[in-house]
Amino acid sequence: MHPALQPFVFERAGIEVRNRCVLAAMTNKQSHESGEISEAEVKWLEARARGGFGMVFTAATHVEADGKGWNGAFATYSDAFLPGMTKTARSIKKHGALALAQLFHGGIRAPEEITGVQPKSASTHSVSPNVTARAMEVHEIHGTLHAFGQAARRCEEAGFDGIELHGAHGYLISQFLGPTSNQRTDAWGGSTEARHRFLSAIVKEVRQHTSPEFLVGVRLSPVQTSTGITLEDAKATAKACLGWELDFLHLSCWDINEEGTLDQRTQRYTEWFAEWVNGKLPLITTGAIWTAEDAEHGLRQGADFIGVARAGIGHHNWPSYLTEGALEPARPPFSTDHLENQALSPVFIDYMRRWQNFVLED
Ligand SMILES: Cc1cc2nc3c(=O)[nH]c(=O)nc-3n(C[C@H](O)[C@H](O)[C@H](O)COP(=O)(O)O)c2cc1C
Repeated sequence: MHPALQPFVFERAGIEVRNRCVLAAMTNKQSHESGEISEAEVKWLEARARGGFGMVFTAATHVEADGKGWNGAFATYSDAFLPGMTKTARSIKKHGALALAQLFHGGIRAPEEITGVQPKSASTHSVSPNVTARAMEVHEIHGTLHAFGQAARRCEEAGFDGIELHGAHGYLISQFLGPTSNQRTDAWGGSTEARHRFLSAIVKEVRQHTSPEFLVGVRLSPVQTSTGITLEDAKATAKACLGWELDFLHLSCWDINEEGTLDQRTQRYTEWFAEWVNGKLPLITTGAIWTAEDAEHGLRQGADFIGVARAGIGHHNWPSYLTEGALEPARPPFSTDHLENQALSPVFIDYMRRWQNFVLED
């Protein structure tokens, strides 16, 4: 049997997952402008659970209205969203997968055109000539911590098995982690430890509002340009995560073959993270995994779980390509008919046209 098809037990929470295949979080713009999750978004996630993934992560979902990053993103900032969240969790779990929501705030990447307010962040900084964030007041930091805790509480009430805190890709959590985007001189910035405070306080807040059986993980980038995160920063954060009450770390590589150099040593990002966590925290790795062989490489680099995004769009039943004798999964471009058959709505298919060569234009 392919090692990614073996079950795994999350020891702290005592939860078993049927295999090590993870559908990574994917924004898909299919939901309602009110923040309520749509039938189309539930259908797309449910198909992946039915297709055999062990863990299905939702798209990044904003925990505050001013954290919204995209039109059509679903929200978790109010109890009014509980019915839709409950339907989502149930639809995933009834097929035997674990359901996890990716909690997020866009910070400087929550555009004013979408939220109606100037973006907030760790410090005043810009990511383009027209986009400047203002620094959050301390009371606002506490407000956002509270919002993460409440969103996690809602996820558990809705029946999700856990959440992932989106600390990758330059959004608010990574804006606090990064030395360029966080120039604060108070308790929330300055030293490396102070830059970790926001994330560690979110983990504590989440734990206060959820039960011990609830899974809580963090997603990180190994390096990130706009926030100034280097591999050395990522190392410090990964090591700090070992001291928090977490169930997994999810590394976003974009390509698991990418390497990084630190202290004159070069190895793949997953190998670095595996070395730092040293078996003390389950590790998911994601990036350009398509074939059974790619998945094996990810595990051999030291990951416990294999995450896929694009392969999971193209193939709702991607884990079945890991069974013995299976063909290799077809690669993009995919026809619109194929994507519709994979439970993507026209809105999501249209969004995928932004990914070069993903949708076959007829
Ligand atoms: C359409 C799309 C939407 C994405 N949205 C998110 C997201 O909401 N949160 C996140 O952490 N990563 C997001 N990502 C990144 C993926 O989770 C993944 O890390 C990346 O696509 C690399 O994996 P892949 O090569 O298997 O696609 C998105 C990727 C795609 C293709």
